[in-house]
Parts: sequence; C-alpha cells; structure tokens
Amino acid sequence: MSDSTPQSSARLLPGAPVAEAVLADVTARATKLRERGIVPSLATILVGDDDASAGYIRIKQRQAAELGFASPHRHLPADATQADLHREIDEFNTDKNVHGVLIQYPIPAHLDYDRALQTLDPDKDVDGMHPLNMGRLALGMPGPLPCTPAGIEALLAHHGIPVAGRELVILGRGATLGRPLAMLMAQKRPTANAAVTVVHTGVQDWPRYTQRADILVAAAGVPHIIQPEHVKPGAVVIGAGVRYEGRRLLPDVDESCAQVAGAITPRVGGVGPTTVAMLFRNAIQAAEQAS
Ligand SMILES: NC(=O)c1ccc[n+]([C@@H]2O[C@H](COP(=O)([O-])OP(=O)(O)OC[C@H]3O[C@@H](n4cnc5c(N)ncnc54)[C@H](OP(=O)(O)O)[C@@H]3O)[C@@H](O)[C@H]2O)c1
Repeated sequence: MSDSTPQSSARLLPGAPVAEAVLADVTARATKLRERGIVPSLATILVGDDDASAGYIRIKQRQAAELGFASPHRHLPADATQADLHREIDEFNTDKNVHGVLIQYPIPAHLDYDRALQTLDPDKDVDGMHPLNMGRLALGMPGPLPCTPAGIEALLAHHGIPVAGRELVILGRGATLGRPLAMLMAQKRPTANAAVTVVHTGVQDWPRYTQRADILVAAAGVPHIIQPEHVKPGAVVIGAGVRYEGRRLLPDVDESCAQVAGAITPRVGGVGPTTVAMLFRNAIQAAEQAS
C-alpha cells in the first residue's frame, strides 16, 4: 500500500450477525407458537407497481417463510383510493390470524400514508411508527419499537459498545430515525441511558456537537455530510442515513471517517439488516401477545 493510501484502523460493526442473533430468537419463539397451533403471521400491503417496493416485499416474504411465519399479501393497483387502502388495512385489523401488518412505503403520491397508518391497529404495527406507539416510546411503555432505532440499539449492544452515561449525538431529527432514536437511547435501560444530543439544520455549528460525541449517529440523508473532521478520534460512528440515486447508495458517512473512528458501520450491511430483523421481532411479539 502506498503512503498516500488512507489506512483504516476502525473496527467494523456489521449488522448481519446482529440480525442473525435476533432472527434465531424469533425462529425459536415462532416454533413454540406453532407447537401450540398458532402460526405467526406478518401481512403485507403493496400499492402500485414500484419495482423496488415489490422487491422489498418479496425479500420480507421469503424471510417470513424461513422463520415459519405466514405472510398474506394484498397488492392494490396504483390508482387505488384512500378508501380502498383503508378497507384492506381494516380486513387485516379484524383478522385474528394476522398478528402484524406492514404497509410498504412509499405509496403513490395521491394517497396519504400517515392517514392510512392511523387506521392500523397499533398492536399490529410492526414498523412501530403508529402515533400511539410513538407515544408509548416517549412514555417508556411497552409496544412495538420503530425498527431502525431499535436496530441501532441492538447493533451497539451486540458489538459490546457501552452506551450508558456516554455522549451520543444524532445528526437528524426525522420522524423515522433521529427523533425516535433519541427517545430510545435516553431511556433508563442498560443498553441505552446515554447523554443524547440531537442536531439538525437549526444548529448551524452542529460539528461542535458531533466532534465531542462518543457515539455519533448520522441520520440526515445527506450524502457524505459526515467527514473525518466531524468525528472525535476513536469515536463510534453509525451510518444510518442514506440516499439512493437510482440503485446507487450514497451514505451520510464518508468512508474516510474510518481513519478517525474507533469503530464504524460498513458502507453496506450496517444498520439495514438490523432494521429488517426488528420488523420480525415486533411481529413475533405481537403474535405472542395476541395468543
Ligand atoms: N438504514 C435504514 O434502514 C434506514 C431506515 C430509515 C431511514 N433511513 C435513512 O435515514 C435518514 C433519515 O430518515 P428520516 O426519515 O428521519 O429523514 P428526514 O425526516 O428527512 O430527516 C432528516 C433530518 O436530517 C436533518 N438534516 C438534513 N440536512 C441537514 C444538514 N445539512 N445539516 C444538518 N441537519 C440536516 C434534517 O434537519 P431539519 O429537521 O432541520 O430539516 C432532519 O432532521 C434518511 O436518509 C433515510 O433514508 C435509513
């Protein structure tokens, strides 16, 4: 390697072993339910013909089959109405054999995702994004947790990274990631209990905060916004924010941050696999609670 080639000393934090451990637990719990004659079931709803969304549904259905779940599916046409969507959700809401429901995001622009989500039975909300579940999270009440934040907590715990009492800074306060992650990581639990700071476009000198973070989570969706000078030497860097340009994934965290960080998620295969695992963890929990 030439002198000009950047060397990385950071330890990598892959999501796959975390997902494997979570899914092994889900499989064992699914087997126990099936022994009692209950087949755990995660239903999916897809609206329209977006290839990527159809692909995500196929991956989840394949995963469901491997874990011993039923996965009933409804596919609505791209010109479906809000009422059509609500009708499908309601059928799954009232079906006692369905324990979790996933409405694949995004849905066509003429439909209102938030309104649809509000018609979903909160106990079947495997994404953990229903307003009632956000409220449960804020209050520390049990309920399905938002998948990506829960996946990040699991990733840190699995890799033995201490969080309690340490400074955790999140770049981004979005509803799916930064905001619920802040609530989760500030909770009084051994794998959380952090001193949490959230920065965003309203904090123009945000590097001042990220530079002192023991654990930095990038959740902005702005490619390469996190550069080495924003990272405290030896810090743990979690890249959760991504933007897609076509099929190209553009991460928030520039790869050169690995030269400064003590540990860092890989460009691909970090937070993503843990998010999917958490979906099934929520689903098995819902199935156990319903039976
Ligand atoms: N890996 C996964 O499995 C996974 C799952 C879910 C989401 N994500 C990714 O996570 C990211 C965040 O998702 P989200 O839904 O929470 O997004 P969002 O609602 O768009 O929130 C983005 C946040 O980043 C902040 N931000 C944007 N540009 C900034 C800048 N230049 N300086 C400082 N702050 C800036 C915004 O600040 P303001 O609030 O001030 O506008 C906002 O709070 C997205 O890239 C998404 O694709 C990944």
